[in-house]
Amino acid sequence: MSSQFHSDQEVLLVTGGAGFIGSNFVLAHLACTQDVVVSVDALTYAGNLRNLESVLSHPRHHFEHRDIAIPGALTEIFERYRPTAVLHFAAESHVDRSITGPGEFIRTNIEGTYHLLEVARQYFSGLSADVAKKFRFVHVSTDEVYGSLGDHDAPFTETHPYQPNSPYSASKAASDHLARAWYHTYGLPVMITHCSNNYGPFHFPEKLIPRVIMNALAGQTLPIYGDGLNVRDWLFVGDHCRALELVLAKGVPGEVYNIGGHQEKTNLEVVQTICDHLDRLVPLQNLGLKHPIRGSVLQSYRELMTFVPDRLGHDRRYAIDPRKTQEELGFVPTETFDSGLLKTIQWYLMHPGWISEIQDGAYRNFGR
Ligand code: DAU
Repeated sequence: MSSQFHSDQEVLLVTGGAGFIGSNFVLAHLACTQDVVVSVDALTYAGNLRNLESVLSHPRHHFEHRDIAIPGALTEIFERYRPTAVLHFAAESHVDRSITGPGEFIRTNIEGTYHLLEVARQYFSGLSADVAKKFRFVHVSTDEVYGSLGDHDAPFTETHPYQPNSPYSASKAASDHLARAWYHTYGLPVMITHCSNNYGPFHFPEKLIPRVIMNALAGQTLPIYGDGLNVRDWLFVGDHCRALELVLAKGVPGEVYNIGGHQEKTNLEVVQTICDHLDRLVPLQNLGLKHPIRGSVLQSYRELMTFVPDRLGHDRRYAIDPRKTQEELGFVPTETFDSGLLKTIQWYLMHPGWISEIQDGAYRNFGR
């Protein structure tokens, strides 16, 4: 079957397009290019079609409800849309869930990546030489595959050994190895990216930053695991998406790119900063909100901070060395943690409908 699109038009197939990073990428890519974007998503609990609501009727956007872990589920999608590039975001991504239920992580992250690579390989092998030359497969992965750093260790470079510690990071490491093997064995033009902790609009509230914002606004406690001194290296999702655009445009097949912005913070610093912003933006003084356990009237969101038992096998510190991506692709993040966090909090304050649909589960009915 021939493509229904102009022959000079790029067609991006984005797996996990209704998830946090995937949807941010889809919206930004449609806004800044003339490309066609095909979003594929299984719409499990963390996939939210509301994230794509503004482009569901867009003439250059197509949404396909598919599960990459079903063998051959995307064969017809590749045939119909004839993608010029694949961005593979689809993954189970929450470490806590991987600890209580690793099975879904093995299925989606390992088996799903395998089935996707296979469909892409078959499709790629049928492309004409000039089209194949431009085809790209970007496997979006995580810095967690490198394991945990000590306080004084140098940040992760692309050659840091793999030492995944959680079922989640082990499943992502396995998927990286598959992606690498499909490049070396079959010549599929794969590039692998490792990103530090993302935050920003559409972030599902199982993760630290959106959970803290949403709990604080609801007057609920803010759980801090262990001593709160674990360190994460935070990157605004819009900056991550811009880096991926550079990987797509200038990246070299077979290469690995680490994406980060030198914004290391302890969890305690992150939670305190969110509380301080909220104290200014949504002052508690006139709300009469009470502490959910102590019953005292809240004066500051910091009073909601609560130390809880630590995550099993909790990695102490992640930090990315982004020099290769900066020097070879020209990536420079635009947001500091302070500016990006403020934007993120403001986004949540401006989207009470998105929040309430997640809180009452109604988001799961939208668009199905
Ligand atoms: O480094 C990239 C990774 O960042 C991604 O690959 C993962 O998909 C993503 O979930 C994230 O992993 P983390 O485990 O670092 O993210 P999370 O938001 O779950 O936790 C951030 C830190 O905050 C971590 O040290 C655990 C802590 N935490 C988390 C939650 C949800 C708390 O103290 N309280 C919480 O309620």
